[in-house]
Amino acid sequence: MEKKLKTIAFANNKGGSGKTTTCANIGYSLTARGKKVLLIDGDMQLNLSLSFFAEDEVLSFAAGEKNLYYAVKNQKDLSDYILHTAYPNLDLVPSSTLMSGIEYELFTKWQREFILKNILKPVKESGNYDYILIDAPPTLGGWVMNILCASDFVVMPVEASPWGLFGVANMFEFLEDVKKINESLQLLGIAVTKVDVRKNYYKQTLEILKQEENVHVFEHIIRVDSEVEWAQDSSKPIMAHKKSARSAGEYMELAKEMEENVRRIG
Ligand SMILES: Nc1ncnc2c1ncn2[C@@H]1O[C@H](COP(=O)(O)OP(=O)(O)OP(=O)(O)O)[C@@H](O)[C@H]1O
Ligand SMILES: [Mg+2]
Repeated sequence: MEKKLKTIAFANNKGGSGKTTTCANIGYSLTARGKKVLLIDGDMQLNLSLSFFAEDEVLSFAAGEKNLYYAVKNQKDLSDYILHTAYPNLDLVPSSTLMSGIEYELFTKWQREFILKNILKPVKESGNYDYILIDAPPTLGGWVMNILCASDFVVMPVEASPWGLFGVANMFEFLEDVKKINESLQLLGIAVTKVDVRKNYYKQTLEILKQEENVHVFEHIIRVDSEVEWAQDSSKPIMAHKKSARSAGEYMELAKEMEENVRRIG
């Protein structure tokens, strides 16, 4: 029988490629498609938490002990670290700036690649969610290894810019390493983000990516939309900020395509 819940990591070691924005808005879009979603903020920059909660709230989560850092450090059941967002069927595990030291914490732990996977097990078994989406930091180390070992799929957001492709090869190599210990991990696809259609450059990015064998490049690209920044400024996903925004429709289309791909390859 097909396993219902799917865990999807948003990862790319290239900074600023759109991981967090894509993760937050796909999360919201999936709930608009009738799914129950848990978001996990895996980055010390707290950006996914800030996408749903005001800055003072996020800083208070980070300063307390109910955040991902302490759950991982003390290997606690992640169910106890879940917050409800302002939106139905959309929950979040907040991060902490202390995540900057998580590699050090992991270093001495037994089976350190599987700590996130283990603490997520009760959440997965609860049957409360259809999707768990994890926002990864722009690094490739033991912590991102943990994120990918806890995931069924990885989505790689790539910025359509000359430097956007920088590091894609490193990421592919890293994924091959992860697959040695998480054989079931699959690249769900590459999401091309921050496309400026007034410039032709993005076509080259798409062409280069489409040359990669066995890699799905999502048909639905995400264009640059200033409303994205206004939405983030008010700690809202784009659909809740301005439903008529162009990118709101684009994230919905991309979420649909992701679900189709999950069904096709999952
Ligand atoms: N579609 C979009 N339109 C306009 N701006 C965007 C869009 N997507 C992302 N951005 C902006 O680009 C910047 C980087 O995006 P984001 O934070 O999602 O990338 P990231 O890969 O998570 O970065 P990091 O590697 O630092 O975690 C942010 O300032 C965000 O507001
Ligand atoms: Mg980010």
